[in-house]
Amino acid sequence: MKPCTTISLCVFVFITTNLVAQNPKLTLDLTKPGVTVSRQLYGLMTEEINHSYDGGLYGELIRNRVFKDNAKTPEAWSVLQEGNSSAAIHLVAGDPDNVPMDQRGHAINSALTTCLKLVVETDGGRAGIANEGYWGIPVKPNTTYKASFYIKGLGSTPPRRRPDGSTLTPNSPVIENNTPGPITVSIESSDGKTVYASGIITLIKSNFWKKYELQLTTASDIKPTADARFVISTNRKGIYYFNLVSLFPPTYNNRANGNRIDIMKLMADMKPAFLRFPGGNFLEGPKLTDAFPWKITLGPLESRPGHKGSWGYHATDGMGLLEFLEWCEDIKMEPLLAVYAGYSLDGDHVDAGPLLKPYIEDALNEIEYITGDIHTYWGAKRAADGHPAPFKLRYVEIGNEDGFDASGSYDGRFAQFNDAIKAKYPALKCIATIGGRDFLGVRGKLTIRKPEIVDEHYYRNAWEMEEDAAHYDNYDRKGFKVFVGEWATREGAPTTNLNAALGDAAWMTGMERNSDLVILSCYAPLFVNVNKATSTAPKAWQWDSDLIGYNALTSFGSPSYYVQKIFSNYIGNKVVPLTGANIPTQTRPATKKDSADKKMPQPIPGMFYVATKDTKTGKIFLKVVNATGKPQQVDIELNGATTLSPEGTIVVIKGDKPEDTNTIDDPEKIVPVTSAVKGLGKKFTRTFDPYSVSVLQINTIK
Ligand code: AHR
Repeated sequence: MKPCTTISLCVFVFITTNLVAQNPKLTLDLTKPGVTVSRQLYGLMTEEINHSYDGGLYGELIRNRVFKDNAKTPEAWSVLQEGNSSAAIHLVAGDPDNVPMDQRGHAINSALTTCLKLVVETDGGRAGIANEGYWGIPVKPNTTYKASFYIKGLGSTPPRRRPDGSTLTPNSPVIENNTPGPITVSIESSDGKTVYASGIITLIKSNFWKKYELQLTTASDIKPTADARFVISTNRKGIYYFNLVSLFPPTYNNRANGNRIDIMKLMADMKPAFLRFPGGNFLEGPKLTDAFPWKITLGPLESRPGHKGSWGYHATDGMGLLEFLEWCEDIKMEPLLAVYAGYSLDGDHVDAGPLLKPYIEDALNEIEYITGDIHTYWGAKRAADGHPAPFKLRYVEIGNEDGFDASGSYDGRFAQFNDAIKAKYPALKCIATIGGRDFLGVRGKLTIRKPEIVDEHYYRNAWEMEEDAAHYDNYDRKGFKVFVGEWATREGAPTTNLNAALGDAAWMTGMERNSDLVILSCYAPLFVNVNKATSTAPKAWQWDSDLIGYNALTSFGSPSYYVQKIFSNYIGNKVVPLTGANIPTQTRPATKKDSADKKMPQPIPGMFYVATKDTKTGKIFLKVVNATGKPQQVDIELNGATTLSPEGTIVVIKGDKPEDTNTIDDPEKIVPVTSAVKGLGKKFTRTFDPYSVSVLQINTIK
């Protein structure tokens, strides 16, 4: 453990004291049937934050592909001029009413209203446009990329003159339309010296937009790099316009408009039961008009303008409603849909009553898009979008964190949504966002309707998680069920460290033990692009402490990720009652605040545990968290066990110190290690490593 230099630095460093000389003891009682474990206990939560989709899971490699990221400048794009060529690029807003005469009419449709104009005034070299991607374009050997873009070529018209001879349009050289002919498309190093893949399209002589598609394949002998750019270039004078410029690498399950393979695999390995989407704050948006616009996230990319998003950057909505559902399908998760409920992040809300009706209608339509058969209006739309089969949906969350709504309008809003949804879809369970025991839940009451399920959020440090690991042990069993819809131990950035993973695991033992009550849970945020700021792009993340990190080329799981993975992978269907004795304790150092409050920190447990049994296979999963810095020799007794195999397995996540972590450069410092164990029986002793999370698998023979 690191020495503490100041009191505040010491706050989260745990001092461990073994108060008793006897071994800790865990007694599993197999004579009593424990509560049933929810099959949906462990899921995922997602939203567009930290470049989760754009620059993350969503496969698109071109940043700012429809030029709407910034109204003033073509972010992520630069002009290319080589040799004697001279060229310039400008954004052209295609709104016919607000742009100069010579720029009118370049909108492709009402979604693609802004395009990029490349003016090549002098030829004699390569001129074009280059995109830097999301902190680089990932180039991998022997890989085929799908490129596509809209382009049209024009010349400039001579300036129009007034009768007195003065010009109506700006005086710029008249450029002949030399644009028809070959256009080169390439993936190349950022300095342009190495071309990794290239191809040619032939621009036909046309003043009209036309989409061109081609494939670019890299050679097998190149070294993976993200120090690359995507370039469309010409060697002829003229004025070129571009829109919806796209480049896709291979995707998971080969889906068109699909997802990154490596990140999908990381998630699939977690075996999550459900996906909560699309937020989080991303559901709500800063203003009422910025809520997740599910309708305009459907259909071809040509009809998706994207929207403002909630985390400081434009969302392309390439990851649209159907893509969320297909992501669920690919990983065999159930969707858990959060519908917008009329409250936005800046504090505005829509009161229950007639004004809320359109929002409710919108939610009902969204549910119909997901679950309706092809004879329903929205079910038919989904079929037309390529997915005739309805998706299974059981849970709908009404809003997000409505405890922040100081007006108290959620009571009425929840009731109105709940009643309308139940009337049309009686089998759906509606989740409320207040009424629980988290900090937000207690900021409001639901008096009109009693929710079946309440979403609670917990963001804390490791100490707080461990201190409150028994949180659910004494909850009222007669009220609502709990969905822990966002939670995380927030230590380490951008991804969490081992200490956070220990806090997570302690907290999870409590959720798992009480999973008759806690029927759903998901960590948040799930993703983070770990790129730091560059001279042209800002830092990629907005929220520290995330589960899965990546850059353009590779991805990795945090220690917390591996805790999620082993908790979800090794679980039975019944909780085994378990008691602990002689459990070591830990005490945190006092802070200035403690002294001011005259309340010294009290010892809390240093070990946490839960056991479940798979009644089909007879396997028992004993999860033990040793948050202390000492090995703990634990006596384990299984009361009422029939025949036990002496052989089992143990999966261990551990590190040398709480601050240990995984990074993009050292992605597997802390990973689960599985080994065989011998000597298991009705009574045995096992040593659990310092700073470790273990799952001991004991096999009962029927
Ligand atoms: O997970 C990050 C944010 O935390 C979510 O968007 C929001 O619901 C919560 O406040």
